[in-house]
Amino acid sequence: MRQPPMWPLLLLLPAFLAATAADASGIPPAAPPMTPWPERYHAVLVTNLTARGGRLEVFDTYYDWARGGDLTRVREQLAGGGDPPARIVQWANGTAYQIDAAASSCRAFQFATGGLLPPDWKKARAGAAYLGRARADGFDCHVWSNRLFARYYEDVATGRPVAWKFTGIDEERHVLSFEPGRVLEDSSMWQAPAYCFDGSNGGDGQGSSRAHLLVSSRLAGATGAAASFGQ
Ligand SMILES: *[C@@H]1O[C@H](CO)[C@@H](O)[C@H](O)[C@H]1NC(C)=O
Ligand SMILES: *[C@@H]1O[C@H](CO)[C@@H](O)[C@H](O)[C@H]1NC(C)=O
Repeated sequence: MRQPPMWPLLLLLPAFLAATAADASGIPPAAPPMTPWPERYHAVLVTNLTARGGRLEVFDTYYDWARGGDLTRVREQLAGGGDPPARIVQWANGTAYQIDAAASSCRAFQFATGGLLPPDWKKARAGAAYLGRARADGFDCHVWSNRLFARYYEDVATGRPVAWKFTGIDEERHVLSFEPGRVLEDSSMWQAPAYCFDGSNGGDGQGSSRAHLLVSSRLAGATGAAASFGQ
């Protein structure tokens, strides 16, 4: 009988993490000095969803800890695509909006335990573990893991993020460019439009659990534990 596809991954992951977090002597690798994320950055990422039946997407992400949020414009592979592209705005308080201005549609989500990852998320108090060194995308990397990332690869030479894989879902992201300090020039993009709040365009947050998974997996800093508004 076929197993549900997620089970083997979920069962193997903790053992795999444990196995890589300690060398043969059982001693975990000593963590390097922590490189915090800059308080603001702009990154372009290729997101690979093929392992769970999706395609590729390009994420144009602005992380802005000082503003208390991050904003991602999503371009899907070979999609006819609306213009402007759909965007996701996520706030540190756990509220997130998925906005498609071309279709005047919006979905609002409330993540129960949530918010953005802070710049210093690799500190142990945030539940991050250092797993040692490995190559990713041709870079020699420090590897970290936390509640969100099964694997986070950081370039040893520069401290820049190279790639990450999410915990519990088959999704990986590869960093094409990383610009510390860069902010989105059009700050109006952060504002959720009125139709997110008038309840007429699916902005009532009554999304299905499938929609929650979709959004939670797309939100780089979210915990993945989502609850819709009104629950
Ligand atoms: C995407 O992920 C799949 C499955 O892990 C892999 O076979 C494929 O090479 C990846 N494609 C890209 C463009 O990274
Ligand atoms: C969270 O913060 C955003 C941005 O300030 C705001 O729009 C939203 O209403 C807040 N959510 C909650 C639940 O307070």
